[in-house]
Parts: sequence; C-alpha cells; structure tokens
Amino acid sequence: MNKKSVKDVEVRGKRVFVRCDFNVPMKDGVITSDKRIAAAIPTIQYLLENGAKVILCSHMGKPHNIFTEGFGLTKKEKKAVEKLPAEEQAAAKAAYLAKAGDDQKKLTLKPVADRLNEYLSGKVTFATDIIGDDAKAKVAALKEGEAVLLENVRFDAREEKNGADFAEALASMADLFVNDAFGTAHRAHASTEGISHYIPAVCGFLIDKEITIMGGALEKPEHPFVAILGGAKVSDKIAVITNLIEKVDTIIIGGAMAYTFLKAQGGKIGTSLCEDDRMELALELVEKAKAKGVKFLLPVDNKCGASFDNDAESCICASNDVPDGFMGMDIGPKTIEIYAEAVRDAKTVIWNGPMGVSEFENYAAGTRAVAEAVAQSSATSIVGGGDSTAAIEKLGFADKITHISTGGGASLEFLEGKELPGIACLQDK
Ligand code: 3PG
Repeated sequence: MNKKSVKDVEVRGKRVFVRCDFNVPMKDGVITSDKRIAAAIPTIQYLLENGAKVILCSHMGKPHNIFTEGFGLTKKEKKAVEKLPAEEQAAAKAAYLAKAGDDQKKLTLKPVADRLNEYLSGKVTFATDIIGDDAKAKVAALKEGEAVLLENVRFDAREEKNGADFAEALASMADLFVNDAFGTAHRAHASTEGISHYIPAVCGFLIDKEITIMGGALEKPEHPFVAILGGAKVSDKIAVITNLIEKVDTIIIGGAMAYTFLKAQGGKIGTSLCEDDRMELALELVEKAKAKGVKFLLPVDNKCGASFDNDAESCICASNDVPDGFMGMDIGPKTIEIYAEAVRDAKTVIWNGPMGVSEFENYAAGTRAVAEAVAQSSATSIVGGGDSTAAIEKLGFADKITHISTGGGASLEFLEGKELPGIACLQDK
C-alpha cells in the first residue's frame, strides 16, 4: 500500500479539501478528549505553512438530519408512517425534525473550530453550513495559509449515502482532496470516498502513518509476531483472527470471547458470556491455528464474579472449571504470567481489545498487565480499540508504544485485511 501523500503534490495556492476525523467525545458542549484533533494538526499545519487554502471537513456523531428524504426513516418505517392518519404523519415528521434540530445544536463542529484555533493560532474560521452560502463565501475569502472548518458533514443525509451530487458539490470547492480521517476510512461516504471521483486525492500524514506502521506490520512483520485479541464476542473478531492466523506466530485470546472457545473445548464456564452459535467456528479457528503452527493461547485461570458487578463476591478459578453461578470477568494471575511471557520476546505485537471487564476496577488487572507487558517489550507495538488504548494511556505508557491507532472500526477492518474505501480511492505513488 503505497499512496501519494500531501508531500507528493503541489499545494501552494491550491484549495485543499482535508477530510479529518474530528469525531471527538463531548460532554455538555465541551470536548473531553482532543486526541483526534491533535492527530490531525501535522497535516493541517504543513498545508498552511506551504501556502494552501485549507477547507476542513469532518463528521461528529450520527445526527438525525433535516435534509433526509423521508425524514430519516428507513423504507420500512416510512411505509408505516405513510399508513398513519395525516395528523399522526405530521406529528411523526415534527418529532423527527425536533430531534434533527436538537442534533444540530449538540453535534455542531463549532467547539472543534475553537480548539483548532488554539493549536493553529486563530487561522481557522467556521462555516455554519457545508455546501451552502456561508461555506462558499468563506472558502472564496480564504487566503494562502488560512483555513475554514465546514459544519458537521453528516447534517446532510447525502454524506452517508455517498450521494454523487453532494460529493461533486464538495469537490467543486477545492482543487485537491486530502484524506486524513483514518477513523472514518472504512466508510464509503461522500467526503471520504465519493469526492475522490472529481478531484485528485492523496493522503495526509495521519493516514500515511497508520498505513505505513500497521500495514508494514501486516505485510512484512518481524517475527516472533504476537497478536493479542480481547473483547466480548468471537463474532466481532472472527475476520481478524482468520486474517492474523496467516501472519502471526502466536494468538492470545482474552476477554469474554475466550469462554466461547473454552466451552467449545468442553470447559465448564458457569454463567460466563458465550456465543453458543459460534462454538463450532471457534473450534475451527483453533484447528486452523494448529495446522498453521500458530500458538493459540486461551486463559488457564480467571477471576470470576457472582454477578456483573464490581463489588459482587469473586473467586479465582481454572478457566475450564468456573463454579456454577459465577462468570469469568478477567484473566487470572497464571494467565497473566503466561501472556506476559509470550509478549516478552516478540518483535511485533498487535493488541486490540480488553482482557476483562476493564471498566470495573476489580477486573482491570488483566488488561493492565497486558498493557504493561506490551509497553515493556522492545517489539514494534501497535494498539487499537478504545479499552486497550485507554489502559495504555491511563498507565502513562503511550510513549512506549510504537503506534496507537486513531481508528476503532477502521483499525479492526484494517487488521481483517480489508481494503478501506477511504484509502483505496487515493492515488498510488
Ligand atoms: C469512529 O469514531 O470510529 C469514527 O469517527 C467513525 O464513526 P462512525 O462509526 O460513526 O462512522
């Protein structure tokens, strides 16, 4: 995967449309983590310093939008509404518009513009629409080295539908498309993919870094290569496990998904979470790993609780012998030792997903221990997923990790070996 970046094209004097992922967590209108904004700054700064006129675009959340044909309803819902008496139809539309109106207030990108200005010394103006009069006027007024942030691109329903007319309208404002929204690169939306059909498209530094480091690890890993996968469901990680079995030396399984494997192998798992309909598949994955000579590590002991509660009665037990009425909520001390040992000599480590219910203090030890092991190893280390990243950051290990991916769903799809539409559409080198 060798894509052209902003450094491979002339940007001076050009109007450059930069798709970022400013989908940051907010509480009562205040940004609670600006990591995604900070991650986009190098590209924006580079463009401003090199005389581009920068048009910034992002989504925030999943708003109801007032431009949606049929008022945001699915076809089925629309049919149901159409069967209602006229008065009720009108009430349904009004209720939808009220939600959309609320979202316009809650999910505006104005606070992001303010935060960008703290990083970029006030060089960013804010347009109150996307392709409307305000956006057009502010883009026309841009001087070299200045930027405008457009309003939340998902306020227009055509964004998520990848509407050609909308993509063309976005493109008509610019000479060059730069995609730097790795977190949204798995979506084929108008501002992440559609726009590339109308103007030349390259990546920014963030996408470049994600594909160089994560792509490099997947294409040419240094061995031993260890993948640590956690989370609640096997079904969420099937494609990742299947892809990684072809590349790694060891797969380490943690989180509730381990119990589907353990039960499938005849273990007694008490009331632990289990996807009964995935047990056959779980066995197939274990067999596949064996056939490939890949070590497939499952927990040997667990910390269990009498209910899904931080303070419920707890015990440590063998993973395949969980007492009746107890559920596995974290990996146990022996498992921690085995997993840390497996990571110690690795040259490449990929970690995605918690080892237990890490949001409960009493069941966070496994996730913390893995975070520590990954941070202490001298391997090229790549961490993705909200809980794993949070554990790394909480422990102050972020600077010991080679790369913390800014993508949630996107990094998972990347690990699945899928081609992400927001990257596939960019020009090759
Ligand atoms: C994310 O937070 O993972 C990205 O911003 C993508 O958001 P989405 O799942 O709403 O497309």
